[in-house]
Amino acid sequence: MTDLTDFFHHHPVGIVTVSGAVFLLLTVLVAIRPAVELKEADASAPQVSDTAAIARGRAIYLAEGCGYCHSQLVRGVPVDTRYGRPSSASDYAREAPPLMGTERTGPDLANVGHRQPSTMWNLYHLFDPRSMVPQSVMPAFPWYFRIVDASAAPKDGIALVLPEPFLPAGKVALPKPEALDLVAYLMSVKQR
Ligand code: HEC
Repeated sequence: MTDLTDFFHHHPVGIVTVSGAVFLLLTVLVAIRPAVELKEADASAPQVSDTAAIARGRAIYLAEGCGYCHSQLVRGVPVDTRYGRPSSASDYAREAPPLMGTERTGPDLANVGHRQPSTMWNLYHLFDPRSMVPQSVMPAFPWYFRIVDASAAPKDGIALVLPEPFLPAGKVALPKPEALDLVAYLMSVKQR
């Protein structure tokens, strides 16, 4: 130790060189390397909103405030393993704004496209969550459906058939394009 002190006393340039080298090494480790890794991950991430329907559905998700109750951020803690693998920065590449959310009244949706891959389940659940999950506290979104007489429903389209009290007797619910867009978006939210 005294040798080193002695050395620095007689070679002041050594102090500058050694501390400069340490500073450079730390800059590379904590700033430059993570930035390069992030850039590579971003470049390999697929486009988020590749179809117009998904993009419109995402806008509805934002407008309806679904994110006030649903996060899209899986943490690296044991209780979160049922929602998927821990989220990484590249999951949010090209998302504007990213929909990580802050609250979790309902389940995390980061991987909901894998968990609930059925259009019909999602439509029934959107029309009235209680029709699928009796104890659900999620609000219903019936304004994305038209309630018509069963006889007036188009034969080839999607019609929700539910008993009372979900629908008056003899009526069915037809999803509006917005409902289909929102469900298309939900089914696209998948971890890679
Ligand atoms: C007031 C809080 C609240 C809001 C707002 C809300 N949800 Fe939910 N959501 C819940 C709760 C609680 C559950 C769990 C019970 C259930 O499945 O209904 C849930 C469940 C879900 C599920 C099923 C998830 C799974 O893993 O099974 C989907 C999909 C979903 N919500 C989508 C939406 C969408 C889309 C919106 C906005 C249009 C929305 N939610 C708004 C509370 C909410």
